[in-house]
Amino acid sequence: MANLKECVFIDNVRTPNARAHNEKGWFRDVRPDEMLTAVFNGLFERNTSIKPEDVDAVVVGSANLSGMQNDIGRLAWLASGLPESVPTQSVTNQCPSGMTATMNAARAVMTGEVDIVIAAGVEDMEKVGMGANMDFPPRLLERYNLMELPMGNTAEKVAEQYNISKDDMNNFAAHSHKNAAAARDNGKFKREIIPVNGKKEDGTEFLVDRDQWIRDSLDMEKMKAMQSPFKENGRVTAATSSPLTAGAAAIMMMSREKADDLGLSYTYKYSFGVQAGNDPTVMGVGPIFAVKKLFQKTGLTPEDIGPIEINEAFASQSLACIRELGLDNNNAPFKRVNVWGGAMALGHPLGESGARIIVTLLNIMKTDFPDARYGMATLCGGFGNANAVLIEKV
Ligand SMILES: CC(C)(COP(=O)(O)OP(=O)(O)OC[C@H]1O[C@@H](n2cnc3c(N)ncnc32)[C@H](O)[C@@H]1OP(=O)(O)O)[C@@H](O)C(=O)NCCC(=O)NCCS
Repeated sequence: MANLKECVFIDNVRTPNARAHNEKGWFRDVRPDEMLTAVFNGLFERNTSIKPEDVDAVVVGSANLSGMQNDIGRLAWLASGLPESVPTQSVTNQCPSGMTATMNAARAVMTGEVDIVIAAGVEDMEKVGMGANMDFPPRLLERYNLMELPMGNTAEKVAEQYNISKDDMNNFAAHSHKNAAAARDNGKFKREIIPVNGKKEDGTEFLVDRDQWIRDSLDMEKMKAMQSPFKENGRVTAATSSPLTAGAAAIMMMSREKADDLGLSYTYKYSFGVQAGNDPTVMGVGPIFAVKKLFQKTGLTPEDIGPIEINEAFASQSLACIRELGLDNNNAPFKRVNVWGGAMALGHPLGESGARIIVTLLNIMKTDFPDARYGMATLCGGFGNANAVLIEKV
């Protein structure tokens, strides 16, 4: 067996994230396969020396591979008119699916099995609803209380167990919107966003080049008064939950030798990735286990890392993870966590987010943390699967 190869990042793009709503969502007439077409085309248009037929593997993550998202990797690739000769995979482990796709693709490059890969994540939570077609194994329901498994309920349990107050969650969400609005206004997302035709709330067609969920003004009094939709007298509200969203993200990677042969430039490589399992009734604290495992296996500490992207499924779980791992301040604003905002503001199209936070992390490293050797992205997943990935400067 040959030694492991290095897998470098060539390009990374995403659609804007739109509200998943059949009347108000900007992508209400755009299918999830069409969002993938937009990011695949974006990669090929921006990297003309790479022909679609040169791609050795395409791995697409989606939390719910049913209905319009059934084997979406294959069907979207073919629907995009791309070559039949390129093999594809659709993978799922709930929210981390897009990150799992990236890890699987990078590992295949590192073993030498393939040279050029595309990893992607996609989800449209309106067209394929969260938990659609779910049929829980009866024995699972003997093991766990069904009422403790829905995502919002797990977020409430985390808030109680880790003593996260409603005020801290509101503050966290407010900073997420503020950071995302600032990043948008300063043109930071321009490098990663591939604009897609959509429809405004009033039906006017327009080229969507920004994320729909970012709130420019926040009413903290309203947020204080909001009630939990998940639990009577609970602490988690719509303002401190990631909203229902649609979007796609894609990453082109290749072996360093191939990139050199093609004369392509690169700055970062895939360094390391882990998964950790945890109690599904507090699934949101999964990153605590994944990041601890990553640190233990690499010998790194939080001080070695520059920017960190932690997916904001719920403010309660993000705060619990940041505090337990000592990643940043105990409360927002943060110095290096989600500095361009997170899912509270950008939305969380389940299977997309794991790829999206890597796309954004690479741009944050390039523009805001050029001296950082490492960046890290992590996210939790429904039913207790969390991923963490380390990116390293070459
Ligand atoms: C929380 C949730 C149930 C809310 O759904 P919803 O009721 O359709 O959400 P809406 O966006 O309509 O928000 C409800 C209300 O809260 C308000 N609101 C939301 N965020 C707000 C904020 N930051 N500030 C003020 N008001 C806010 C909305 O404006 C709306 O009020 P209105 O009806 O007066 O306009 C839904 O977003 C959800 O399920 N999120 C979690 C998704 C999830 O589990 N993902 C997986 C994670 S692992």
